[in-house]
Amino acid sequence: MENCENVFVMDHPLIQHKLTYLRDKETGSKDFRQLVSEIAMLECYEATRDLPLKEVETQTPVAVAKTKVIAGRKLAFVPILRAGLGMVDGVLSMVPAAKVGHIGLYRDPKTLAPVEYYSKLPSDIEEREVIVLDPMLATGGSGIDAVTIIKRSHPKCIKFMCIIAAPEGIKAFTAAHPDVKLYCASVDDHLNEHGYIVPGLGDAGDRIFGTL
Ligand code: PRP
Ligand code: URA
Repeated sequence: MENCENVFVMDHPLIQHKLTYLRDKETGSKDFRQLVSEIAMLECYEATRDLPLKEVETQTPVAVAKTKVIAGRKLAFVPILRAGLGMVDGVLSMVPAAKVGHIGLYRDPKTLAPVEYYSKLPSDIEEREVIVLDPMLATGGSGIDAVTIIKRSHPKCIKFMCIIAAPEGIKAFTAAHPDVKLYCASVDDHLNEHGYIVPGLGDAGDRIFGTL
């Protein structure tokens, strides 16, 4: 994993291999969904690496063992609708006890500005670490607004997990939320004139839900 201050690029071979097939325009919705879920699962493994542990004693069939469990910090995943939904199954397979909130945002196709249409967060979010999920960080507008909305509920800590990020989005996001760690599988080249990431993978929401 390459680090640059608060930006973590997860270059694990399994993630990079799956990302290649995710980008391929010939990959259909069924395989695309599966790949998004698998990449999210692998990213979650890295993004939770800093969770604190505490020692406990466990009675095995043979003896008492000193072992470790995650110490108290509870997790909530918050996908940004729609495309973030594709990452939920994968992260829940790693942390089944996590709660799931939702933030509904879409990009206005003309201005590219995010428009909020839904928000529902776990009632005990103040006790939780939140990992926001969205496969794409393009201009950064949706991710920035989602984190701003979540911060109003005062979670213990917020991380942002995407699959592909544009340099423009990383710059805007880290300037707006310097306290939030950003995890991605690739930093791509640039945004085109329509705000799409180049080379990217096209419209993630449309490819997940087959609405192209
Ligand atoms: C996509 C994507 C992000 C956003 C990224 O969502 O899933 O939420 O665009 O772009 P930004 O960084 O410039 O804000 P979209 O608006 O297409 O909605 P959808 O998930 O419902 O398809
Ligand atoms: N949203 C997407 O789904 N893809 C992009 O390339 C940019 C924003």
